[in-house]
Amino acid sequence: EKGGFDHFMLKEIHEQPNAISDTYRGRMLVEQGLIRMAGVDDNMERIANAKRFIIVACGTSWHAGLVAEYILEDLARIPVEVEYASEFRYRNPIITENDVVIAISQSGETADTMAAIKLAKEKGAFVFGVCNVVGSSISRETNAGAYTHAGPEIGVASTKAFTTQITVLTLMALKLGKFKGTISISDFQFHLQEMERIPEKVKQALKSDALIQEIADKYKDATNCLYLGRGYNFPVALEGALKLKEISYIHAEGYPAAEMKHGPIALIDEQMPVVVIATKKGHYEKVVSNIQEIKSRKGKIIAIVTEGDEEVRELADYVVEVPETIESLTPLLTTIPLQLLSYHIAVMLGKNVDQPRNLAKSVTVE
Ligand code: F6R
Repeated sequence: EKGGFDHFMLKEIHEQPNAISDTYRGRMLVEQGLIRMAGVDDNMERIANAKRFIIVACGTSWHAGLVAEYILEDLARIPVEVEYASEFRYRNPIITENDVVIAISQSGETADTMAAIKLAKEKGAFVFGVCNVVGSSISRETNAGAYTHAGPEIGVASTKAFTTQITVLTLMALKLGKFKGTISISDFQFHLQEMERIPEKVKQALKSDALIQEIADKYKDATNCLYLGRGYNFPVALEGALKLKEISYIHAEGYPAAEMKHGPIALIDEQMPVVVIATKKGHYEKVVSNIQEIKSRKGKIIAIVTEGDEEVRELADYVVEVPETIESLTPLLTTIPLQLLSYHIAVMLGKNVDQPRNLAKSVTVE
């Protein structure tokens, strides 16, 4: 049942190339320059004319929502807010009939996310669901939606759900951008072509496994770890830290790299591993200077870089390469080594990777 892998989590990490292509298959018609998503097509006017998108989710799905915020604002030019469902529902939030609420949930059963969409519906918002589990409560409660088609996710730590949620929301952003004319046809087409190359590039990124095991062995006894990223890769840093916390029980924090100097930099000493996402597209030079700041305080640097990078290699203790792609798609690649890192550390520490203590796969109580 684990397909030859030791754990469901590892199996699901390795399923991502197929999971991502299953997500876009039948939706992305590259030759025709089309994206078909019934849930969007059938409600195009309502969704494309939204004054605002409010994304509600919890945990890893909330991180996917943050990545989607960058993509939707960038490509479709619609303002996006990303809310923890648990905060949103109790805040007397301002919701109008011109808002479209996007609920993201792997299980489709998360109690807080469910309550948030009920509230949004009461206030007249249109609710769009991005769920993995077909026929789940949230998928039934929403006005429309798009499934991620990632297949069953058994490991408690979410992996392929995250990358497929990003894939669905990227397709949605591209589709809306094309409809609204906020991206050019050539840019749209280029994104589609690049998306089609992602599964192969994820496979490539998975080849870092042996190197990641070496890094895991080196830092498994750390008590703290920082994850830094900027732009599209800031939410990836949050997600990397969450993965490490939940399965290895090592304290980890994710931060936007530039925020480091506003506090967390005080934590850095020679004991502190800092994972930095420093891919070539998007704020590269700024991240390099953040890396220099860490180095001058003797922090240990594990950098996720674009294939062929030389500048960061000179500064970092370890570099893990991922293939090059357009900036908006980098999270689909940079996430991979971070998933593997948390997995290998947890295994080396003898933790129960698939069923970490105190956690449940779907959180059906608030
Ligand atoms: C993290 C994790 C949790 C879930 C969260 C939301 O690996 O599994 O943080 O992401 O409980 O669950 P869903 O997406 O099912 O609503």
